Amino acid sequence: MVSQNFPVLKNDRILKAAKGEKPDKLPIWIMRQAGRYLPEFMEFRKKHSFFEICQTPELACEVSLMPIKRYDLDAAIIFSDILVIPQALGMTVEMKTGVGPVLPEPLTVDNYKNLKKEGAVSRLKYVGEAITLTRHRLEGKVPLFGFSGAPWTLMGYMIEGGGSKTLSKAKKWLYQHPELSHQLLQLLTEVIIEYLVMQIEHGAQIVQVFDSSAEYLNKHLYTKFCLPYLKKIATGIREGVKGLKIEQVPLVLFAKGAHFCLDEQATLGYDVLGIDWTMKPESVRTTLKDKNVSVQGNLDPCALYAPKEELKKLVIDMVKNFGTDRYIVNLGHGIYPDAPVESVQTFIDTIHSIDL
Ligand code: CP3
Repeated sequence: MVSQNFPVLKNDRILKAAKGEKPDKLPIWIMRQAGRYLPEFMEFRKKHSFFEICQTPELACEVSLMPIKRYDLDAAIIFSDILVIPQALGMTVEMKTGVGPVLPEPLTVDNYKNLKKEGAVSRLKYVGEAITLTRHRLEGKVPLFGFSGAPWTLMGYMIEGGGSKTLSKAKKWLYQHPELSHQLLQLLTEVIIEYLVMQIEHGAQIVQVFDSSAEYLNKHLYTKFCLPYLKKIATGIREGVKGLKIEQVPLVLFAKGAHFCLDEQATLGYDVLGIDWTMKPESVRTTLKDKNVSVQGNLDPCALYAPKEELKKLVIDMVKNFGTDRYIVNLGHGIYPDAPVESVQTFIDTIHSIDL
């Protein structure tokens, strides 16, 4: 056990909302809040490369704290990336300015055997160290999120060699090499479980699984290649945490664009489901009625470009439509680099002005 006398938590709104308890105010955090829309991050990036920040706990901690210093957010998220897992498995990952992530030697049926699963999570120890440091530096102000990519989303980047408009190379595996696809998804599942348990052991107080590429699949493929692994992840984390005799933490699943199986998502063992910006709050609540899960989302990231009064109205309408029960406010995908910093302030202030 690594823990470690962390400071007492002063704001547990998110943890309460995740567990179905009533917080004093609606909690809000923003996906990709520690990133490029912040001028202080852009300044910082002039001095350090992306992966240097990820791999140096002192630097990752500093960036994780940036949005917390600027705004009255209800959670911090550790600065890292979902692609540190492919990196730990031995793949080269470069972060190219203006392009995004590039994996110059993508995964193929022939080089699959070169993936180095053994010791992968120990090669990610820097994330654990960054989490522990950030927990201390947060001084209990807000809870700290850990996170991972989901198996399918990671598989997509590994096979495509970066972002893709169709994910057709990765989907080709699902159709032409279903057995090998299952092997890869199982391998990733095992690494993700060990990785998230390690993050919790090092101080993550809530963890989110990002299945950002869910939208490229249909119900048939998602049911066959994703849902079973997402369920194993939730169960595996709970067992791992139990084995360490530490407290369980809420689990959040954000399966972007997986409208076709929202009801099934509610049966996987997650406490919170992330809702993307295309979904109608009322329909989400109807589908999830009596399912014992909280919801998170789902303001269109582009709503932050709207004039202040219009933005306030959109935010209030969203809350009316979701209702305030078991609700964590967020965007319906990550914030864009050109989002105005004042709009983020308006978004947060509007949420915190609502009396529960
Ligand atoms: O603030 C936070 O949320 C913490 C850090 C975080 C990053 N990436 C930092 C980052 C998190 C949670 C992620 C998750 C992530 N990374 C996802 C899932 C969420 C989503 O938006 O769907 C995905 C698909 C990735 C992969 C990735 N990393 C892409 C596609 C890109 C390029 C485009 C983009 O959105 O920035 C990255 C780069 C990246 N990850 C940056 C940051 C701050 C910008 C890179 C830079 O500084 O040059």
